[in-house]
Amino acid sequence: MGDIYESVMELAKRRGFVWPTSECYGAVAGFIDYGPLGAMMKRKVEDLWRDFYVIREGYYEIECPTVGAEAIYIASGHVKGFADKMCQCPHCREYLRADHIAEAHGKANAAVLSAPELSAFLRLLPCPACEGELGDIEVFDFNLMFETQIGPGSQRKGYLRPETAQGIFADFNRLVRFYRNKLPFGAVQIGKSYRNEISPRQGMIRLREFTQAEAEIFVHPEHKEHPNFALYTDYEMPLLGIVQQQTSAPPLRISMKNAVSRGLVANEYVAYYLALTHELLVCAGVREEKLRFRQHLPDERAHYAEDCWDAEIFSERFGWVETVGIADRTDYDLRAHAAHSGDSFTVFIPFDTVRYERKRRIIPDMGVLGPRYRGKAKQISEALAAADPGEDGVEISVDGERFFIARDLYREVEEDVEIRGIDVRPHVIEPSYGIDRMMYAIFEHRYDEEMVEGEIRKVLRLPPRIAPVQAAVFPLMNRDGLDEIALSITQSLVEQGILAQYDDSGAIGRRYRRQDEIGTPFAITVDYDTLEDSTVTIRDRDSMNQVRIAKNDVPETLRLLINGTLNFDLLKK
Ligand code: GAP
Repeated sequence: MGDIYESVMELAKRRGFVWPTSECYGAVAGFIDYGPLGAMMKRKVEDLWRDFYVIREGYYEIECPTVGAEAIYIASGHVKGFADKMCQCPHCREYLRADHIAEAHGKANAAVLSAPELSAFLRLLPCPACEGELGDIEVFDFNLMFETQIGPGSQRKGYLRPETAQGIFADFNRLVRFYRNKLPFGAVQIGKSYRNEISPRQGMIRLREFTQAEAEIFVHPEHKEHPNFALYTDYEMPLLGIVQQQTSAPPLRISMKNAVSRGLVANEYVAYYLALTHELLVCAGVREEKLRFRQHLPDERAHYAEDCWDAEIFSERFGWVETVGIADRTDYDLRAHAAHSGDSFTVFIPFDTVRYERKRRIIPDMGVLGPRYRGKAKQISEALAAADPGEDGVEISVDGERFFIARDLYREVEEDVEIRGIDVRPHVIEPSYGIDRMMYAIFEHRYDEEMVEGEIRKVLRLPPRIAPVQAAVFPLMNRDGLDEIALSITQSLVEQGILAQYDDSGAIGRRYRRQDEIGTPFAITVDYDTLEDSTVTIRDRDSMNQVRIAKNDVPETLRLLINGTLNFDLLKK
């Protein structure tokens, strides 16, 4: 096999999976189109994700706008800090990602370096575009958000969302009510995100418009035990923790139970989503041996995060690629939105039994305050009730005006106050998936070439449930009624919700090859025996084995093969 990236992308373009956008006007870097088969396959990958997060976990999906008001992104910190380090080549004027150049020349984790540190490191390095020495180059921050105006006349600034997460955070107060004020709960979103990447030269890996699938799971800050942790306690997978990275040790294959008890993973929630992500990615077609989970190093991790891991997938072309981020973001996002919006962003958690607390209560003397302050008396008494007076009295402020209320204008009483519960600001556990990166990894891991009868057979070994076309139906000959039977089988499959493709053109071997290339897992052939005994052959894409089954059993057999309940090898027996 030659360069796998070239082979995969050639097939993807030729067979209608992925191609550059608007090629007739000159494609724009960082944007791609999914063609007919690619769009279908992407939908299936997203539906697999939904099966895990929406159906299994019970986190409902929401859909927020891709354009957000400026206030959201000021609160989230994106306006101030969502930037990459950029520089411009003094020779060819190309804009470059400074940390990527440094990393390509051996500087690990260069994204954490400051602009002056990067400038110093780049001085003697060649420009990746023109190879001229970068020299005394300035490195500066470039904000990655696409800015826009909402409404005519540039009245309101907006941004294309750089992640789907902020829409969920901004909706928190409504979501709490939807989930009837109970923790934990979660909401998910699948949709486009936008980042004005500086030099997106990595095909589907670094895009300016890409699809994210994110779950935001709101948990009690003191209860980070996942209710279904038992599902994954013994699940083992490779974890590249901070210590393994610092000592250049290989990833540790460890169960989730041990990972948490040894303190490698911060809590059960993070461990649970590490394992679920591993299961989901393998189910989608990522090769298990090319998948690892890497913990963020202390200087790489956001200051507020309690723990942070990346699911990294190995690519022959791009090396280890971060494809999913799994983080315990604490209460950072909700705190930020509370501070900027004035809403509470808390959940009221009632106590099991009502508690009483001894509290001081201020009782204003309205007999004096009323006549003295007239129209302002009510506001003054309310401010007074909430104040914390000193020995002589207290100064309060009403509508910007300050009043000193002397000690003899109110009484203080100590009393037992009923406390029914507490306002809690939840912590957020966030698994965040890049669907396009998953798609590329699946293409690369599932692409195969082998010699069959003196010819190269190109095959996409896609898991049946994400293959865009799930079954092909061929009449051996386009006559003698074989075509009619094949068409009626195709129709019966379609009625079962199976996407089946009828093909009667060319030699049967060519037809198999065409389907192998697009990953169609099963092909049904109607031949002359079908006329005799009402059976057809069913061919397995991967082994190329064929079995005869009754024509009428085709829809049910295929349904079971596609959903994984039936294994093709068992069908043979
Ligand atoms: N809400 C958290 C968040 O957005 P992130 O690590 O910036 O975290 C999550 O993004 C995932 O989105 C990444 O792991 C990656 O798969 C995908 N992603 C990020 N930037 C991307 C880009 N420019 N092109 C394609 N996918 C991207």
